[in-house]
Amino acid sequence: MKILVVGTGAREHAICQALHEEADLYSLMSNQNPGIARISQFKIGSEMDIQGVKKYALDSKVDMAVIGPEAPLEHGIVDALQEAGIPCVGPTQEAAKIETDKAFMRNLFVKHKVPGSIAFGVFDNVRDAEDFIDDFGKDVVVKPVGLTGGKGVKIVGEHLKNLTDAKSYAKDIIDNKIGGHASVVIEERLVGEEFTVQALVDGENLVPMPAVQDHPHAFEGDQGPITGGMGSYSETNGLLPFLDQKSYDASVEVMEKTVKAVKNEVGPYKGVLYGQFMLCSDGPRLVEYNARFGDPEAMNVLPILETSLLGLFQGVIDGNIKKAKFKPEATVCKYLVPNGYPDSGKAGQLVHVDEEKIEAEGGMVFYAAVNQRNNEVLTTSSRALAVVTTANDLQDAEERCERATKHVHGDLYHRSDVGTKQLIEKRIQHMIEIKK
Ligand code: GLY
Repeated sequence: MKILVVGTGAREHAICQALHEEADLYSLMSNQNPGIARISQFKIGSEMDIQGVKKYALDSKVDMAVIGPEAPLEHGIVDALQEAGIPCVGPTQEAAKIETDKAFMRNLFVKHKVPGSIAFGVFDNVRDAEDFIDDFGKDVVVKPVGLTGGKGVKIVGEHLKNLTDAKSYAKDIIDNKIGGHASVVIEERLVGEEFTVQALVDGENLVPMPAVQDHPHAFEGDQGPITGGMGSYSETNGLLPFLDQKSYDASVEVMEKTVKAVKNEVGPYKGVLYGQFMLCSDGPRLVEYNARFGDPEAMNVLPILETSLLGLFQGVIDGNIKKAKFKPEATVCKYLVPNGYPDSGKAGQLVHVDEEKIEAEGGMVFYAAVNQRNNEVLTTSSRALAVVTTANDLQDAEERCERATKHVHGDLYHRSDVGTKQLIEKRIQHMIEIKK
């Protein structure tokens, strides 16, 4: 079976790694990712060049395509490939609106009575947005309706000082069409612990994966600017230290009802659905959806998947997905990123990775925003590479992961606190405070 994987980063490297023993891989990536390049035939090109991707898929006679990132989904890559007779793991342009159009997502919850909804308003008029913020009177989150690569969401109390700042950011979004639309979503600010549930979806049925917690802040102790995610962990039982089975099941139910609602509204959703939830005092609430695997969260779940990923992907396409089995192992992922990231990470810096020593720690390397030229690996300014470990308990996985990071050399930094006992105790304590 020939499979095309579209995308350049660590998420796509993890997908390729999970598939390469079962399939002949073809990759379309914008830089030469050394991890993907050594296990697939590849073409360097833009993932956004839909006609170029289609031509490569047809020339390579692939049997299936897997779409890694969200931007080509927004531009209809699945619709184009399906028209050319190539089945895809990834939603159509309309179904991908669950991520690419935040107004669509919030309104879907209301119309179809999906649980886990929150107070919100969608506005294309500055005065109405300001009135909503004044009337609501509590802290809010201000989001562009469209995609902003994770950089558009601003929260009062974190990135915005007060409601006056919230109003001025809402105006900025509308006036300057941040995210591609003159439209803003204002939401209530949720208080709790965030977590991710990812699921494979065949249009009707969901196969949920272990819960993961990501760490979006750049610096230790959850300080600094928001990034694409500095690292993540998962537990042996598929839950999290602050997340019990009941709340996990409630989150999966939200996702199941969402999939039904999407089907009724715009047609079947096929691919990976990423639910980002906030565990609040009264249960999980939906923060947002992504129409793809998470990055870094894909690197937690795929290395412990025991079921064939190819078989699961075939089930997504055929509409008859079966259950997936995961090893009962804890996982820790730590991203190494260029100094200066996310504001001014330097491109073109040499990175040296001693993969043998990392493997000796039981670790794996997933390459992300790097470019291989001859035998050198160079940064391209964003997250460079991730080190992932799995073990029978979280503490062991974390300690191995931290030791493994020492075998990566370059002008890089990482968050050494991801997955540590101290940080997890802080999360548990936070949840106890919230539930009081
Ligand atoms: N972990 C954040 C994302 O994948 O968008």
